[in-house]
Amino acid sequence: MFATLEPAPADPILGLMVQFRADPSAHKVDLGVGVYKDDRGATPVLDSVRQAERAEFEAQSTKAYLGPAGNDNFNRLITSLVMGSDHGALKGGRVRTVQGPGGCGALRLGAELLKVANPDATVHTPAPTWANHVPLIGNAGLHLQSYPYYTPGSAGLDFDAMIGALGKAKAGDIVLLHACCHNPTGADLSHAQWREVADVLNRRGALPFLDLAYQGFGDGLEDDAYSVRLIAENCPEAVIAVSCSKNFGVYRDRVGATLVLGETPAAADLALARLSRLARGMWSMPPDHGAAVVGRVLGEPALAALWRDEVETMRKRMVGNRRKLADALARETGSGRFEFIAAQKGMFSMLGLTPAQVGVLREKHHIYMPGDSRINVAGLGDANIDFVAKSVAGV
Ligand code: LMR
Repeated sequence: MFATLEPAPADPILGLMVQFRADPSAHKVDLGVGVYKDDRGATPVLDSVRQAERAEFEAQSTKAYLGPAGNDNFNRLITSLVMGSDHGALKGGRVRTVQGPGGCGALRLGAELLKVANPDATVHTPAPTWANHVPLIGNAGLHLQSYPYYTPGSAGLDFDAMIGALGKAKAGDIVLLHACCHNPTGADLSHAQWREVADVLNRRGALPFLDLAYQGFGDGLEDDAYSVRLIAENCPEAVIAVSCSKNFGVYRDRVGATLVLGETPAAADLALARLSRLARGMWSMPPDHGAAVVGRVLGEPALAALWRDEVETMRKRMVGNRRKLADALARETGSGRFEFIAAQKGMFSMLGLTPAQVGVLREKHHIYMPGDSRINVAGLGDANIDFVAKSVAGV
């Protein structure tokens, strides 16, 4: 029966990893998949994580099953990192957390819960959004519909159109929001705009589904959680999918969490029990190693301080790369049209090139990015920024 399968389309982001590895050019530049890189182009294990791994290796006394909700210590500490330790929703006993395999697992688990809670809900997703949101949420059986978010020509948010579209959401609909460092555009909402979004969702009775995959990569660990904390303060219910892949650099260990905010502690308990059943039906229980390590980093003050410094180092390097690329493009094009790169947040910006121009950059200059011209600014460095700017200006 497999012989008659339609060939599966290549993943627009992961497919690039394969192409990049196969390119023998010594000058190739990888601006594709969202993985942090240092100035040498390496993605090293963070020191805080390495130390926690060593300690974990010595301390672990068993590998017996944990349970579908995963590692309790991790769940408690990641919840505090995201919500802040004294958030009213935590004090009110309205938040429950289940560990998931990576941010993808966390998103899928959240989507499965929403499908059970409201099978007819439409999930409103920003245009554009991360390509993998579509299968992760759509394959849970939920209907997806885009709302306007970003205007490529002006490289900015189309906030009025966004609010206009969300103002038509039906009660019980779900609105997917990138909590910070929007992927792929790097265009984030201001605090005032977040407040407006929370108001409109409340007015419509729509439920916020926040994807928090880059905490610490935009304006810092606390600032980047503003949206989540605001929504949890103002909305009766929410789902938050968290990824530790980027800010802890534990990509392949698959560490994430689904947080659910219930209207009451009893409703939150019902959601927790349902999440556990859903997890049991998909992966039974998440892998422990990465979560145990993240839990140890967050739980030991010296490791937590080291980790916060390491996140800040990553963030500052990306902010610096943004400035340098915007300056180099200004020099090469004699215009300020790429200045938006310096103002945007997190790992990604979209250059505004056509797929054909992206193809020329790949074939002729060995510079790799997805067809929508999203670049991972961490893939830039002093060794390649001028070359990238010249090549982009050339196309
Ligand atoms: C990305 O957007 O490049 C990352 O989130 C990696 C992925 O899984 O797509």
